[in-house]
Amino acid sequence: MILIIDFGSQYNQLIARRVREHHVYCQIEPPDFELAKIKSLRPEGIILSGGPASIYEKGSPRVDKRIFDLNIPILGICYGLQFMMDALGGEVVRAEKREYGFAELQIRRPEGIFAGIEKKTRCWMSHGDTIGRLPKGFRVTASTPNTKVAAAEHQARHFYGLQFHPEVIHTPEGKKMLGNFLFRICGCKKNWTMKSFVRDAVEEIRAQVGGDGRVILGLSGGVDSSVAAALLHQAIGPQLVCVFVDNGVLRQGEAEKVQEVFKRHFRMNLRFARAKKIFLERLKGVEDPEKKRKIIGRTFIEVFEKEARKIKGVRFLSQGTLYPDIIESRSAFGGPSAVIKSHHNVGGLPKKMNLHLVEPLKHLFKDEVRLLGEELGLPDELVWRQPFPGPGLAIRIIGEVTEKRLAILRKADFILMEEIRAANLYRKLWQSFAVLLPLKSVGIMGDQRTYEHILSIRAVTSDDAMTADWAKLPHEILGRISNRIINEVRGVNRVVYDISSKPPSTIEWE
Ligand code: XMP
Repeated sequence: MILIIDFGSQYNQLIARRVREHHVYCQIEPPDFELAKIKSLRPEGIILSGGPASIYEKGSPRVDKRIFDLNIPILGICYGLQFMMDALGGEVVRAEKREYGFAELQIRRPEGIFAGIEKKTRCWMSHGDTIGRLPKGFRVTASTPNTKVAAAEHQARHFYGLQFHPEVIHTPEGKKMLGNFLFRICGCKKNWTMKSFVRDAVEEIRAQVGGDGRVILGLSGGVDSSVAAALLHQAIGPQLVCVFVDNGVLRQGEAEKVQEVFKRHFRMNLRFARAKKIFLERLKGVEDPEKKRKIIGRTFIEVFEKEARKIKGVRFLSQGTLYPDIIESRSAFGGPSAVIKSHHNVGGLPKKMNLHLVEPLKHLFKDEVRLLGEELGLPDELVWRQPFPGPGLAIRIIGEVTEKRLAILRKADFILMEEIRAANLYRKLWQSFAVLLPLKSVGIMGDQRTYEHILSIRAVTSDDAMTADWAKLPHEILGRISNRIINEVRGVNRVVYDISSKPPSTIEWE
């Protein structure tokens, strides 16, 4: 495995993803990770990440310097390089010119970390400090017009440093450089696959849960909870009890699909909490988006808890927490411990019910979770599902949520999804959905004047939902969607397309 020390760079998750793309397992830990723990992980290499601090600033993050005595190859990136230089007796100074963006990289020799790479290539820079003097035994291996020490190495000790970021796509040969570090320098093997993950995870889950305790899991039908369920099912079979809450604001056919896959196909122990009535009751007359969210969140916990109490012998609660949730929730500057975001709707439950947490996906990135889902035999339709918010259609009906409005939105949304799938666009879009507006406009149908709802179509492309662009859907597809909705859905006589990006808009309307 490779250990990545997180000095707070916005790119540190990318480093981990690149390493795993090479089929090598890696783990990200904060700078205050103790030497004994580092040793016990027995890493084949250590990567020191970049970070926003200056090494000569008071309180700048530092890892135990004795890592340099472990006889393990080390790669320092940006701040990680500067930390290495400083720790080994070199000097870091403020650069005359901050360097940000593309730079031409001139490589001295195509060997070591640069093996098999052209001498002239591009790299991505983002730094204000630079190396003034190298420690003894180091030599410069690459430069840019502005930065003499763009890369350095101590060949005998297997220490390497890059001032630029090999993990971002703007450094075209970056993946190869990281591969050189992993395979040529550290001698890693390509043994991180989803098959190996399943084998280890199943063992771990069995060890944690034992032979009698039961595990409950809130199954939403989304990718994370579905994959967690499939994995737990493989590990502990009937000891797993899944709870699906029908909150009345689901898409058409969702509840049935979950039944179909998990109950009929996997034969899992799945309980259905039909709670539509209580959710809609509480949403009556509520127009404020935040209030809607709170009501749905609170009611969910209530219903889930009630359902959980009916099950005997429950000692564990499983959640589909992913690796980014864990990394993002802990301080890069070595906070005392990792505070895990309770991003799932069942947040306060474990303590209240005295349950232990089982989080079998907590070391995986989203794309790995999808691969895992495929490995476990989940249908494509589920594995590649677009995200769907917890508060569901309630935040896609602007104004009050009523049965009538839900019926209109469900039908329109279903048509939209049918057309998006038929056009082979489903997997290319981050999300695509319909939003029902509380506005009416005049139309004409046959010889009749109509006065009906306006519906908006939203389709966006995105990598992580932090930013998103409105999708440039072909006009014919938009035309077909609009025609079908207006013809087939009673209560809608006008369809508009949302052409706003995030930021400044958000993906959901509420
Ligand atoms: P926004 O609207 O903030 O959404 O651009 C970003 C992403 O988050 C999803 N989303 C939610 N997911 N519970 C969820 O599980 C929620 O309350 C929630 N609100 C927004 C949204 O669909 C998009 O993918």
